[in-house]
Amino acid sequence: MTTNQLRQKYLDFFRLKEHAIVASASLLPENDTTTLFTGSGMQPMIPFLLGEKHPLGTRIVDSQKSFRAQDIDEVGDNRHTTFFEMLGNWSLGDYFKQEQIPWMWEFLTKVVGLDPNRLYFTCFRGNEALGIPKDTESAELWQKLFKEVGIDATITDFPERDGMQNGIIFYYDEKKNWWSRSGVPAKMPVGEPGGPDTEMFWDFGIELGLHEKSLWFDKPCHVNCDCGRFMEIGNNVFMEYRKTEKGFEKLKQRNVDFGGGLERMMAAKIDNQDVFLIDLFEPMRETLQALSGKKYGADHTETYAFRVVLDHLRAATFLIADGAPPSNKDQGYFTRRLIRRSVRFAQKLGITENFCVRAAEQVIEMYHEAYPDLVTKKASIILEMNKEEEKFRRTLATGLKMFEMMLQSVEDSVAISADEAFDLYQSYGFPIEITEELAREKNVGVDMAGFQAKLKAHQDLSRAGAEKKFKGGLADHSDTSVKYHTATHLLHAALRKILGEHAEQRGSNITPERLRFDFAHPTKMTPEEIKATEDLVNAAIERDYQVSWQELPLAEAKRLGAIGLFEEKYGEKVKVYTVGDPQGMPEADPTATTFSREFCGGPHVEHTGVIGHFKIVKEESCSAGVRRIKAIVK
Ligand code: ALA
Repeated sequence: MTTNQLRQKYLDFFRLKEHAIVASASLLPENDTTTLFTGSGMQPMIPFLLGEKHPLGTRIVDSQKSFRAQDIDEVGDNRHTTFFEMLGNWSLGDYFKQEQIPWMWEFLTKVVGLDPNRLYFTCFRGNEALGIPKDTESAELWQKLFKEVGIDATITDFPERDGMQNGIIFYYDEKKNWWSRSGVPAKMPVGEPGGPDTEMFWDFGIELGLHEKSLWFDKPCHVNCDCGRFMEIGNNVFMEYRKTEKGFEKLKQRNVDFGGGLERMMAAKIDNQDVFLIDLFEPMRETLQALSGKKYGADHTETYAFRVVLDHLRAATFLIADGAPPSNKDQGYFTRRLIRRSVRFAQKLGITENFCVRAAEQVIEMYHEAYPDLVTKKASIILEMNKEEEKFRRTLATGLKMFEMMLQSVEDSVAISADEAFDLYQSYGFPIEITEELAREKNVGVDMAGFQAKLKAHQDLSRAGAEKKFKGGLADHSDTSVKYHTATHLLHAALRKILGEHAEQRGSNITPERLRFDFAHPTKMTPEEIKATEDLVNAAIERDYQVSWQELPLAEAKRLGAIGLFEEKYGEKVKVYTVGDPQGMPEADPTATTFSREFCGGPHVEHTGVIGHFKIVKEESCSAGVRRIKAIVK
C-alpha cells in the first residue's frame, strides 16, 4: 500500500459510511486572522462544530494540509515535520462514540491491516473539579473490540506513575486526553469548544524504546511517554463541551473530531518509526543522496540534515501553491526561512548546485493526484523556488565567510553583535533564525534584542509614514474616517460582549461614508442583539472616554486584555489603543473605567464623545461563519 492509497482508502471508508468528502482547505486560513496557518484539520470546521449547518451535511471526511510553524526546530528527529496531512472525519451533531470507535478499529485493523497486538489506546480519566466524567464508555468499547479478536485487554490507570502494568487501554488526565485549539481546559478562552479524547498508539517494539535516550531511564515507560517506542497515530475528540465563565457547558450538539497523521499511520503500516522513510519522500531522498553522495541513515548529523531539507522543501512547495511565496513578512517569511534553511543544510551535505526546483518537482509529482492545485500552480512554484535559491546562493558563501570572521572577533562566547547580525540579514540575506542557529552550532550567542531594535528602526525608516497604514485599512485620515475608526473599536468590543468572545474581527474597511466590519459569528444577529450592540456603543460614546495609545511587548499587551489583529514577531513591541483608563483592564460596559483595548496603528479620536450617534444599517452574511456589519455615525 502506498501513502497515496492509504489516504484514498480512508476517504473511501468514510464515504461508504455516508460522509461527504471535502477538499483540503488552504494552508493560509481564510477569514481567520487569529493564526497565520492552518495547523489542524478541525480549524476550518469550527463554525460547524459550534452549530452552523455545513452545506454538505452532518458527516464530513477529508485530508487537511496542515503547517505547524512552531515545530520548525523539532524537525530532524524521526517524527516531526512542519507540514503534514491530517486525516479527519467529523460528526456534526450526528454519530458519537458507539460508532466512531468501532469504525476506527475496523479502519486500522482491517483496511490498513495493522496488527491488533501492537495497538494501544488512551482515554480521559475524568476530572471532578471540571465536572467532566471519566470516559469509561470509550475504554469499554475498545476492550470489547479487542475481545472479539481474542485479546484480553486490561484497562489500567495511572500509567504516568506506574508504567505499563501489562495494560493495553489506559486512562490519562486532561494534559494528555483532552483536546481544544488552545490545549488543556485551563488555557481555553470562554466560548472555545473542546472535549475529552481517545488516542490510538502504535507499538514499534520494546527494543526501539530502549535504544533511545529518554525518560525511559528514570521513569517507567508508558504508552504516552516520549521514549520512542510508541507513536500516536490518531485522536478521536468527542467535542461536546464549551468553556464558560464558570466551567463547562454542553455544546448544542455532540461532535466527533477525528484527526490522524497520514505520515504517521503510514510509518505504522511499514513498521518503521522514521516518517521520512515513507514512499512520499523517496524521490527527493534519492535525489539528495545522488547529489551529495551521502547515504540517508548512515550518519546521525547527516540524517538530520536530510530530514530538514525533505521536510522544508515539501512544506515550501505547498505554501507557495497556497499563495505564500517567499517574502519578508507574514506567511511568506516562513517560506523564505524554509527554503534558505534547506539550502544551508544541503550545503552541509555537500550539495552546492541548485536543487530546490528539482525537489519541488518531485513533491508535485508525488502529490499531484491528491492536490491537483500543485499542477496548476506548478509554473509559479518553480519560478519562486528558483528565484529564492538563486538569490540566497549569491550571498550564502560570502555570508558564511563573514560569519566565520565575526566568530574570530568573538571572545569567550560573547554574542554576535546586533550590527553583525543585521549585516548578515541585510547584505547577505540570512534570516535571523539562521544566524542564531549558526551561532548555536558554535556555542556563541546573538544579541537578539539589539537586532530586533535595529530591524525595527530600519523598517520604520523604509516605510516612513506607514504608521498611517494599519490592518483593516484606514485609507484616508479625514476627520470622519478617524471617527469611524474609533467607532470600529467600540463595535468590536461591544459585539464580543453581546455575542460572546468568539465574535472576533475578520476584516474591516472604512470610507468617509460608513464603516464595514466583518467578524466571526455562526448565525444571523437578532434584532435584539443589534439593538443591544448599538446601545452599548452609544453608551460608550456618551461616556466620552479618553482614547490613548501605548507601546508594549506583545505578551504584556495580551495580558492586559488587548484584542484584535496583530503580527506575531519575536520580541517586537506592539502598539495598543485604549478607550478609557490606560491603567485598567478592559470591560465593554459603560460603567467600567476602561472600555476597550486593541492592537492598532491608529489614528483615533481623542475622546469618544466627538463620534456622534452610532447606527447599524446592515447585518448580513459575509462567508461561512463570518457576519458583516455596515454602520454609520451621525
Ligand atoms: N483536532 C484533533 C487534533 O488535532 C483531532 O489532534
